[in-house]
Parts: sequence; C-alpha cells; structure tokens
Amino acid sequence: MKKEFDVIVVGELNVDLILDEIESFPEIGKEVLANRMTLTLGSSSAIFASNISSLGAQVAFIGKIGKDKFGEVVLESLQRSQVDVSMIKEDAEAGTGATVVLNVLEDRANTTYPGAMDLLTMNDISEDDLSRAKHLHFSSYFLQPGLRKDVGRLFKTAQNLGLTTSFDMQWDPREEWDLEFEEILPYVNIFLPNEKELMFLSGKNNLKEAIHSVKKYTDILVIKRGSQGSMVCYRDDILDRPAFINKSVVDAIGAGDSFNAGFIYKFIKGNPIPECQEFGNLTGAVSTLSSGGTAAFRDYEAFREKARNIFGFTI
Ligand SMILES: Nc1ncnc2c1ncn2[C@@H]1O[C@H](COP(=O)(O)OP(=O)(O)O)[C@@H](O)[C@H]1O
Ligand SMILES: [Mg+2]
Repeated sequence: MKKEFDVIVVGELNVDLILDEIESFPEIGKEVLANRMTLTLGSSSAIFASNISSLGAQVAFIGKIGKDKFGEVVLESLQRSQVDVSMIKEDAEAGTGATVVLNVLEDRANTTYPGAMDLLTMNDISEDDLSRAKHLHFSSYFLQPGLRKDVGRLFKTAQNLGLTTSFDMQWDPREEWDLEFEEILPYVNIFLPNEKELMFLSGKNNLKEAIHSVKKYTDILVIKRGSQGSMVCYRDDILDRPAFINKSVVDAIGAGDSFNAGFIYKFIKGNPIPECQEFGNLTGAVSTLSSGGTAAFRDYEAFREKARNIFGFTI
C-alpha cells in the first residue's frame, strides 16, 4: 500500500515566548527589561516535525492543544511548514502548552506550562493513523505523563504495522530519569539522546560504559554532543564526527531536534548511516544560526545557501 506520510510524529506541542537581550536574571519582587521578543513554535516534537517537513518529507503530527490563541499559533506554524495537522486534538479543558525562555548573555532559564500536553494518551493514537506513515518519531518522554506507561506499546505497535521508529527522550525536568529503557528500546530503530541525557539515563559516570549499557537494546544509538558533534553506535562501529563549527551562533534552541530532522530525513530516504550522521550535524549547526528552532529551515534555498557558504556543504 502506498503510504501517505513519510513520518508521523507523536509528541508534545507548545509555543516558545523567547525574551532576549536581558541584562540580568530577574530577582523576586523586581523587574528587568528584555530588548527583543519572539513568539514562535516551540516543543521538541513540533520543531522536529516542522524542520523535517521543510527538508522535503511528508509529515503528519499527533498531539494535543487547547482551544486558544497559542493553539492557533501552533497549528498555523505547523501548517506553514506543510505539516498535516488533521490528527491534532483540541481539548477545551486545558490551555495550549507554553514555554517562557529568558536568554541572559550565554545562559537561559525556561519555565514550561504543560497544559494540554499532559493529556495526550494512547486513546488518541489509532492504528489506522499510524499505518498511514512509513516512520514514527516520538519525543519528550518526560513531558507526557499520559503516554509514559504506553511508550513501549506505541513503538511495538508501530513496528508491527511496518513502520521504522525513532525516539528522542529529551531532558527530565524532575531529573529522576525513571524510564525503563530495556522495555522500550527493543522497539526503537534509532535512539537519539544527547550525551548528558544518556549519562543520566544509564546511571554510569563514563561515556563508554553508558554506551555499553544502552546500545544492546536498540539498532542505532546516536549521541548528540553540542559543539563536539555526534557519535553514532551502529553494529560494532562507533562513528565519531566533529560538529560544523561556526562563529555566528545565535542560540542552540532546537539544535538537537534539527539534528534529528536531518538524520531521520536521510534515513527514511535510505541513505547509509554515516551520511545520515553528517547531515544531522549539518542541520544541527544550521539551526544555531537563527533564533528559535525552525527559522533556519523555513526557506529551503536559504538553508542550502547557508550550508554551502558557511559550511562548504553542497546539497
Ligand atoms: N554550537 C554548535 N556548533 C555547531 N554544531 C552544533 C552546535 N550545537 C549543536 N550542534 C549540532 O547539533 C547537534 C545537536 O545539538 P545538541 O546541543 O547536542 O543537542 P540537544 O539540543 O538535544 O542537547 C550536535 O550533535 C551538533 O551536531
Ligand atoms: Mg535534545
């Protein structure tokens, strides 16, 4: 059967209200000024969906928002990137999730209101919907309490329906790292944590041991390492590739999700794993050139030009 979508993304949805150029962190009872503000699509899953769609994949999204203005911002932004939003549910009981990002010099502090993100459950995800796609990507495990106990089942169902799968668990805001990866990863083809997350998940204190304890459960373990690039553990190899370094980093919001978009885009098109990794490093680096997570990819020609002019990479 011909599949309608290359990728179906299941995940959290929220807007990011980014306040930039703040001179110092606000103190209790006081007020500080920000010189710049951006209201944009946030959430790891949505940034991934938007960017892999901008790269050329056919993408659909399953998630939950409130019936409010921020929900409209989420839908409009995804639609602007040609993401199919017909499977996104609206819940009148909760507001759309929102993250307020305070950027102070090189640091940032985030506060997230999860709202409707808390309410997405397996009941919102039908086998019929999953089977419309070739690949399932799920992100932000710790932000979705309604799905947590069923994530293994979600991946297993997808694989039984013939989809390949990828998983980026993301940071645990509670820092408890309560995730039974031995139960989930056997149904995941590509697991994409960053280095710090992998260390906390495995409970090990060196990278080699962390890789050893997790790698055996998944086909491809991809470790994102910020300005150090990425490592891919695949079969018996470890491919270590440096980042595309540049001097014009604006922010690192969405770098990991953009890396995922590049890697998975090449993967679903059947490219060899080292090419997926190199393209992931490229899309991660390009993302750092613009504010927020999606702006660097909205215009495909501009993306190609940056790849060529700044990083010497011809697409
Ligand atoms: N400052 C940077 N310069 C160049 N590439 C970067 C930079 N930060 C991130 N990247 C690229 O983006 C990828 C993902 O970023 P990272 O910060 O590790 O992920 P996450 O956002 O999940 O923590 C990295 O593996 C790297 O390839
Ligand atoms: Mg990440």
